[in-house]
Amino acid sequence: MSTLTRPVCIVGTGYVGMACTLGLADLGWRIHGYDILPERVERLRRGIPPYREPGIAESLREHIDAERIHFFTDMESAARDAQVVIVAVGTPAREDGSADLNALWKAIEQLSLVRFATWPTIVIRSTVPPGTCDALAANVETWADLIYAPEFLREGSAVRDFLNPDRIIVGAEHPAVGVGYVQLLEQLQKPVVFTSRCNAELIKSCSNAFLALKISFANEVANMCDALGATSDDVLRGIGYDQRIGSEFLRPGIGFGGPCFEKDVKSMAHVAGQYGLGRELFSATLRVNDAQPHRILKILEGELTTLADTTIGIWGLAFKAGTDDIRDSLALRIVEELGRRGARMIVYDPAVPLAPLPLGSRLVHSALAATHADALMVLTEWPEFARIDPLAYAANLSRRIVVDGRNVLDPSRVAAAGLTYRGVGRWERATPEPLQLASGLT
Ligand code: UGA
Repeated sequence: MSTLTRPVCIVGTGYVGMACTLGLADLGWRIHGYDILPERVERLRRGIPPYREPGIAESLREHIDAERIHFFTDMESAARDAQVVIVAVGTPAREDGSADLNALWKAIEQLSLVRFATWPTIVIRSTVPPGTCDALAANVETWADLIYAPEFLREGSAVRDFLNPDRIIVGAEHPAVGVGYVQLLEQLQKPVVFTSRCNAELIKSCSNAFLALKISFANEVANMCDALGATSDDVLRGIGYDQRIGSEFLRPGIGFGGPCFEKDVKSMAHVAGQYGLGRELFSATLRVNDAQPHRILKILEGELTTLADTTIGIWGLAFKAGTDDIRDSLALRIVEELGRRGARMIVYDPAVPLAPLPLGSRLVHSALAATHADALMVLTEWPEFARIDPLAYAANLSRRIVVDGRNVLDPSRVAAAGLTYRGVGRWERATPEPLQLASGLT
């Protein structure tokens, strides 16, 4: 079997593992997927993906039917014939910010027991602190090569991002060791950066830390706009036009959530601390992010005077649009805090059918059903919220207040419906004579 006809083994079927699985299958490679969870493998074999993302269920079905993808519960069968083994298991943060690498070491231990048909290259894709891959490589040197090839994909567009990366980073002892892996992605025609494993680890963590820093910066600017009566849309657009800065990840909101940014910034702060280096920038990024949900709550409280005994409609629980993931979602944190302050919530998220909510709060199945409340808060940037005519819910909101924590609604349309609009660094007071209110639209 030549290198190119061997299957690619992918260990882990989370967001990263599945994006690699489907992306590489799209490029024509044969994939052996492995997961430690037998129930998950069983579902995958039946074509049921472990998370929601547009198009992935169809793509999984198609590749399984074409016999390009097989899933295994034993590592030996999954990995034996592979020359490239991609490891994409979780590396969650511990309390002190350090990364929990247990799943990664366990995967390497399992791989060490495989009777490989050829000398394998282990490709680590999980996000890890600098130094991890050199330590792993020292442990596998008698039976494999080990490289670090970080991913930069986002939840909600993971497969698309996998197939359209800005760059392919290969951290290897010698570039020659990374060639087998790069061949898998050759068709993408993207720049490849060969570097050391430690450099590649820093590229990954620092990219995420910088994006998180940019969001915290945008939030501080928007908060300043609020205080000065300026408009964050114009200010941030003006800043972002500078090509040295760029407009991406300059969107203010309730703060960044999800399983990556907070964890990675904490991990960088932890590493800086270990080496006696300044960690101010990382710590400040996190502090601004922790404070942002409270700022949004303060805006709501300012409008309502008190949150106790109020009913708040909530649009959005996922940590961002395009996903059903509520891990480390700041929307959920805001809902919990509202509960602590005595409010009841009526919550709608187009992708989240179940969630732990404070006592007295409930999930509903339509956006309008969530508007029978004193005020409405938008906490996830689902574009469909902007498409709902404010006239359809204006009459439902007894205190006529909308707090848009994601700046997704059109302030003038909301105000024209007779509602007070408060966004992040922008607002619009209700027009005195509300336009005719639609009725019977609930
Ligand atoms: C992030 C990175 O964008 C990916 O490049 C990286 O591969 C991934 O982490 C990872 O390390 O696995 P992800 O967490 O899926 O991807 O989501 P993002 O789209 O980056 O959004 C993260 C959070 O920031 C969300 O809560 C989002 O709403 C928020 N955000 C994003 C803002 O508040 N403002 C923005 O301008 C952009």
